[in-house]
Amino acid sequence: MSTIESVLSETRVFPPSETMVKQANISGMAAYEAMCKEAERDFEGFWAKLARETLLWHKPFTKTLDESNAPFFRWFHDGELNASYNCLDRHLKTQPDKVAILFEADDGKITKATYKDLYHRVCQLANALKGMGVKKGDRVLIYMPMSIEAVCAMQACARIGATHSVVFGGFSAKSVQERVIDAGAIAIITADGQFRGGKEIALKPVIDEAFALGGCDGVTNVIVYQRTGSQVAMQRGRDTWWHDAVKDQPLDCEPTWVDAEHPLFILYTSGSTGKPKGVQHSTGGYLLWAMLTMRWVFDTKPNDVFWCTADVGWVTGHTYVCYGPTAVGTTQVVFEGVPTYPDAGRFWKMIQDHKVNVFYTAPTAIRSLIKAGPDLPKKYDLSSLRILGSVGEPINPEAWMWYYTTVGNSKCPIVDTWWQTETGGHLITPLPGATPLKPGSCTMPLPGIVTDIVDETGNSVGRGKGGILVIKRPWPSMIRTIWGDPERFKKSYYPEDFKGKYYLAGDGASTDEDGYYRIMGRIDDVLNVSGHRLGTMEIESALVANSKLVAEAAVVGRPDDLTGEAVCAFVVLKGARPTGDEALKIAKELREWVTKEIGAIAKPKDIRFGDNLPKTRSGKIMRRLLRSIAKGESITQDVSTLENPAILEQLKQNL
Ligand code: PRX
Repeated sequence: MSTIESVLSETRVFPPSETMVKQANISGMAAYEAMCKEAERDFEGFWAKLARETLLWHKPFTKTLDESNAPFFRWFHDGELNASYNCLDRHLKTQPDKVAILFEADDGKITKATYKDLYHRVCQLANALKGMGVKKGDRVLIYMPMSIEAVCAMQACARIGATHSVVFGGFSAKSVQERVIDAGAIAIITADGQFRGGKEIALKPVIDEAFALGGCDGVTNVIVYQRTGSQVAMQRGRDTWWHDAVKDQPLDCEPTWVDAEHPLFILYTSGSTGKPKGVQHSTGGYLLWAMLTMRWVFDTKPNDVFWCTADVGWVTGHTYVCYGPTAVGTTQVVFEGVPTYPDAGRFWKMIQDHKVNVFYTAPTAIRSLIKAGPDLPKKYDLSSLRILGSVGEPINPEAWMWYYTTVGNSKCPIVDTWWQTETGGHLITPLPGATPLKPGSCTMPLPGIVTDIVDETGNSVGRGKGGILVIKRPWPSMIRTIWGDPERFKKSYYPEDFKGKYYLAGDGASTDEDGYYRIMGRIDDVLNVSGHRLGTMEIESALVANSKLVAEAAVVGRPDDLTGEAVCAFVVLKGARPTGDEALKIAKELREWVTKEIGAIAKPKDIRFGDNLPKTRSGKIMRRLLRSIAKGESITQDVSTLENPAILEQLKQNL
């Protein structure tokens, strides 16, 4: 695991090879610097030119950036376009028969869809949705396995101007229900189930359960893609099989033109309060950045095979599976399964079989694959690889070196991309044919992206120091608002502490003397477990919702070798503090409870029971003490304000 010391003492530098520089879309540091200067010299002009060159506009925009109602920025807002048209129709004349998606199922079965196929399938589903009365601006919830159909579902919504909200297939019925209600969804697209790691996982029954929880009456149609063939309940008048819905639909569907600010999607993510935030993204600015980052960061070439392993339930799967790769017309791999099934060589075998050139995954996957078989990649021919990518959490220098030497054969640059659900696409990242790399650093911001590190009052700390990561100028693919809660948007991202002027990322970071960024992790109550974002308050609320058992709960994170961070819950029960087998039994019950409330990803790894929690005399839970206990550190903090010091000994006992 990385420690701050090992990161700070990092002195290795890996410049790109001459061949890499020569062939790159952004070739050499001078080219990068020139672009940065251009953006600085004429900020709006820089973006306007890129937007005109990159996107296909139905109606051209005349105004680039509208800051009159900051921080509710508008980009290209009087222009009209359609995201699905930009991803599909543009390829129909030039490369209709090129494979758009090469799908590998959990069991290894391959299915391919060309750009023309994808276009027809999206159009048919779009027509079916229209037939069900789904209109521009309506919200559609998508709860799908990784599949060609998941991409079709998202693009079909985009085609008719409906705003999609994808919910990761691992989330619980309760999470689905909450999102249906918050988004005001009128339709759901799901599947009977999915296969992962040789196991069948039900999806439609979760949707049924969400309905049973109540409040979902606004949903009048559910489309069900048949993946597993297992028996599922279909409610007459509401539920339709996908294959029936599209059967007689025309193969074309005129795109619905929307203005550039039209919400393409809402994606829920965790914040520092109990309730997940619906991050709202635009159409024009979002798609522009998806395309530019594909070209700049992944250096997309016409014959590339691109593979991003993220699920479409996360933002990475939105930008670098559904929209980015199709808009730039690349061939991509979409994978249903997990990296360790049937064995830990699965990723390497797939790279070999499909001759993948650009491979993008998360540090947590890399760490688990190192553990499962550090020499396994050597058994496969990985010579097709040109660029490797990392996303979701800091990559520790040891894992970076393994990825670089063992997977990339010391010839593939690693693009360690820092970004967030809210940023829409990469913001701080190396460019493969320009940036000299330092293991564990996401290096420097992309052209046009103005980042800085500031202190608590918003003043720059200067090079070589640490502080709070902010973004000082708006960018096209930024979050537009929190769905239904503009006040929360302002408070969360443009707080008064920074005079409401800077976007607060919620991460701590530092730069070295060369201006290279290192992300130190979240500064708020958000955890990063296996690259998944979880709010500590969200898990606390879930625990105390078990009102029969739980009186009080506090959740903190602790470092974990495999998952980056692990969830650690301190629980006070309504009854007596349990010990021995009784404690194990209740801990198991609580883990299952959290799985039901949120999803398996939020399950606490550690559960500790106390008669009480450490509190100040005014009743505030002292979380920094809990963090130390969770880490197994000896307590050096001042505990004189603590009302009940004896509690600390109890809480040190892990089950
Ligand atoms: O803490 C940062 C971490 O993940 C957070 C964003 O999580 P999410 O919205 O789920 O999006 C993940 C995929 C973009 C950030 O605030 N993070 C993301 N990428 C990196 C990272 N931390 C360090 N290095 C990264 N490359």
